[in-house]
Amino acid sequence: MSSFRTLAITGLTALAGLGLIAVPAQAQDYPTRSITMIVPFAAGGPTDVIARIVANDMAKTLGQSIIIENVVGAGGTTATARAAKASPDGYTLITGHMGTHAAAVPLYPKLAYHPEKDFEPVALLAGTPILILAKKDFPAKDLKEFVSYVKANTDKLNMAHAGIGSVSYSSCELLSSVLEIKPTGVPFNGTGPAMNALVGGQVDYMCDQIVNAVPQVNGGTIKAYAVATPERNPSLPDLPTTTEAGLPKYQVSAWNAIFAPKGTPPAITAKLNAAAAKALDDENVRKRLLDLGSDIPKKDGRTQAALAELVKNEVARWSAVLKPATN
Ligand code: MLT
Repeated sequence: MSSFRTLAITGLTALAGLGLIAVPAQAQDYPTRSITMIVPFAAGGPTDVIARIVANDMAKTLGQSIIIENVVGAGGTTATARAAKASPDGYTLITGHMGTHAAAVPLYPKLAYHPEKDFEPVALLAGTPILILAKKDFPAKDLKEFVSYVKANTDKLNMAHAGIGSVSYSSCELLSSVLEIKPTGVPFNGTGPAMNALVGGQVDYMCDQIVNAVPQVNGGTIKAYAVATPERNPSLPDLPTTTEAGLPKYQVSAWNAIFAPKGTPPAITAKLNAAAAKALDDENVRKRLLDLGSDIPKKDGRTQAALAELVKNEVARWSAVLKPATN
């Protein structure tokens, strides 16, 4: 997003706030009816949980309900393509993430949208460190044993993921390239259902966002071997980092954010951004996100410009790591 545009948005909001310029009636009265928030994965998964926690508070600020619509398929790209084509009037939004708005680009050469060209960045919601997880009776007591077992038994193991282009797929593709293995992937409509299969022992391991794993790890229903960040996560203080556990090359964190169709008026996306930023300061919202291991963006990381920059950098980063997916 050009610096001029950023300047324009900030200026507009400020001037509008001071009532010095007339904000288009459409934006001033926005929202006048309920807003649809598309979540590109099954209910109960990390993106759904984060979207519901924040949207619930945003609805109070905006004075209209935000209805979550779970639209699944193709690693989240089906819903994202739909959101890109929605009317740019502020009434259809999407909670996308590192997968739908970055990793999907190199994986789908014919992707029906481009994260930077077809969307207005609205608000970064949460950073979500990635964990290496396995079923409860996986025959390894720590990451070192996990790595040697996976390397020795790759063809016998099933790795769960939420579809090509998803965070769980992309972050485990990165793990596979670090370990130089090619496991069999088992796709689900989200890591909500994938987690159920892991707890049930129908699949062997998965790379997933911490938000989805904390309750299961604390409940002892699955194994967690490491968190792929430089620091341990306060929600799982006993879980080592990949560096501590002997796999320093594997570092990855995801993020979830709100986007609007391209052309949604700046005054409307600025209003939505302000409501999201306010939600991230709400005590209850913060407690729920932090208890699930999320990283809540600091103030300077909550601007639309910061999100635009993140998307640009992440598209570049994953385009250097991932090749077009061959089913
Ligand atoms: C979900 O909410 O199910 C996840 O974000 C899916 C993924 O990208 O791994």
